[in-house]
Amino acid sequence: MARFPQDFAWGFATASYQIEGSAFEGGRGPSIWDTFCKLPGKIRDGSNGDVATDSYRFWKVDVALLKSYNVKAYRFSISWSRLIPLGGRDDPVNPEGIAFYRTLAEELLRNGITPYVTLYHWDLPQGLHDRYGGWLNKVEIVKDYVNYAKLCFDSFGDLVKNWITHNEPWVISCLGYQKGVFAPGHKSDTEPWIVAHNLILAHAHAVKLYREEYKSIQGGHIGITLDCHWQIPYDDSPENIEAAKKGIDFKLGRFADPIYKGYYPERVKQIIGDRLPVFTEEELTVVKGSSDFFGLNTYTSQLVKEGGTDETNGYITVGHTRPDGTQLGTVGAKNICVVNPPGFRSLLNYLWKTYEKLIYVTENGFAVKDEHQMSLPEALHDKDRLEYFEGYANAMLGPVSEDGVPVKGYFGWSLLDNFEWTDGYETRFGVTYVDHATQKRYPKEFARFLSKWFTEHIEP
Ligand code: BGC
Repeated sequence: MARFPQDFAWGFATASYQIEGSAFEGGRGPSIWDTFCKLPGKIRDGSNGDVATDSYRFWKVDVALLKSYNVKAYRFSISWSRLIPLGGRDDPVNPEGIAFYRTLAEELLRNGITPYVTLYHWDLPQGLHDRYGGWLNKVEIVKDYVNYAKLCFDSFGDLVKNWITHNEPWVISCLGYQKGVFAPGHKSDTEPWIVAHNLILAHAHAVKLYREEYKSIQGGHIGITLDCHWQIPYDDSPENIEAAKKGIDFKLGRFADPIYKGYYPERVKQIIGDRLPVFTEEELTVVKGSSDFFGLNTYTSQLVKEGGTDETNGYITVGHTRPDGTQLGTVGAKNICVVNPPGFRSLLNYLWKTYEKLIYVTENGFAVKDEHQMSLPEALHDKDRLEYFEGYANAMLGPVSEDGVPVKGYFGWSLLDNFEWTDGYETRFGVTYVDHATQKRYPKEFARFLSKWFTEHIEP
C-alpha cells in the first residue's frame, strides 16, 4: 500500500477571528473584521466573531479534541491586535496576548502536536487602518508588519518552528479592496494591486528578518500560503485553454511568480498595465525566493471559459457544469465546495513542476449543503464530507508516491464549525460540530475517518 513518509504532518486548521471570540477581552484591540461585521448587510446572518467558538476560553478543550483525533500538527493564526492592540511599532504590547499563544503552543507540544502558525489571517488591527490606510500604505505597513512578525519570533520562536506569513493574499486584496465583500469593504480597480504588492513586500521582509536573525538559532522555516482552485478549460477550444492558464495566473501566479521567480506574470501585466506596481531592483532581491515552501489552500476545481466582466480573475467565467450538463462533482454549501479530486492531483503536479518547492496543503475542506438546517445526528453523519476527503486524501497520495511530488503536510479546514466570514455561522466547514448556543463540540463521523485514514497511510 502507498504511504506518506513518517514525518508527514497532518492535522486541522483554524484562524483567530473565526474561533477565538473574546473580541474585547484579554486586552485585545479591534481589527478591521470587528468593524466590518457591524456594518448592516455585510454578514448573511447578521453575526460576527465576538464570541465565535469561544476558543480563547476553550483552547484546552480544542487541544484535547485535536489529541483525540490523533493529529500530528495544528495550524492556527495569531490575532495581531491581541498582541499589539493598536498594531503599530511604537504602540504598547499586550502581555496577556503573548501569554495566551505561548500557553497554547506549550499545550500542543505537550500533547505531541506541532504548531503551524499563520501571522496574518485577515484581521488587520483597526488602528493601522485608521492611522494610515493599513495595507494601502507601503512604507508604514511593511515596517509595522515586520515589527509584529519580530514580536512573534521573539515571543514564540522557541516553541514554533513552522511559520506562515499571510493566508491567501488573493482574498485579502481582491475580496477586501476590489469587490468590497470582505473587510475593509473597498471597491476599487487600483487598490487591490497596491495592496497585493504591499502584502508581498511585507511577507518578504518578514522572511528576510527570520532568515537573517532567527533561523540559525531557532531552526524553523517560513513561507506563505496562497489559494487556488484547479482551472480546467471548459472545452478544447484554444481560447478556453488559454483562459484556464490566465485563471491560474490571476489567482496564483500574481503572487507565486514574484515570490518564487521574481516577476509578475505576462498575462497579468498585459491586462493590468500601469496599475500594476513595479518592484525596484532592491525590492526584488528581497522578494525573489522569499518562501521556504509552498503553502497551498485549495477547495475545488473550476471549468473556465474566456470572457466575462470580472477583473479579479482576468476576465474569465468559471463554473462547475460540463458541456454535457453534468457537474464536476458532488456540490456542497457554496461554490468552492464541489468534489473534484483529479483537479487536486493536477494542481499539486502543476505547483511542483512550476515552482519546485516543498508543498504543504495548509487548507482543504468541504461544507455540506444545508448542514445548518439538519438535526445533530444528521449533521454528524457527514457523508458528502467523507466522500470529499477520501477523494482528496487519495488524490494527494498519488503525486507523493507515484509522481514524486514532495507534499509534506495536509491540514483539513476546519477543526471546528466556526465564523465563516460573510456566511456567518450558516456554513459549517468543521470536522467537529459546534452547538453555537452552548459551545459544546461533537465530532462528526468524518473526523474519525480521517484520523484512521492517516494512521493507516503514514509510515509507522
Ligand atoms: C479561508 C478560511 C475560510 C475557508 C472557507 C479559506 O479561503 O482561509 O478562512 O473559512 O476558505 O471559506
